[in-house]
Amino acid sequence: MIVCSCLAITDEDIEQALVEILSLPDAPLPTPGIVYRHLRKKMVCCGCSPLAVSTIYDKIDQLAEKGVVCPYAGATAQGRLLKCASDTPAQKLIEHAPVVRRRRRKPAIEAV
Ligand code: FES
Repeated sequence: MIVCSCLAITDEDIEQALVEILSLPDAPLPTPGIVYRHLRKKMVCCGCSPLAVSTIYDKIDQLAEKGVVCPYAGATAQGRLLKCASDTPAQKLIEHAPVVRRRRRKPAIEAV
């Protein structure tokens, strides 16, 4: 699925970037900016930001379930992403997904 039409970034590109980012010792919060920078891209119109946040949130869930990333790191990142997305269109996409989502776990840790 294309997430960013300006830069032709797919959900698979985001998934691969998340695996690499969340495997870093001091993994940064995987915001769209961090993920796009990791992919050596720079946002153009930012119209994809809400969908990118929602995709990142979902991919973290999937990667933790597969055991590819640490569930603790994933839950921490999701909690921080939700906090950053508060009162934005991204929060609505995360909470009211247009597609059927799998069971969602609550973040184990609240970001400070
Ligand atoms: S749609 Fe992603 S930068 Fe424009």
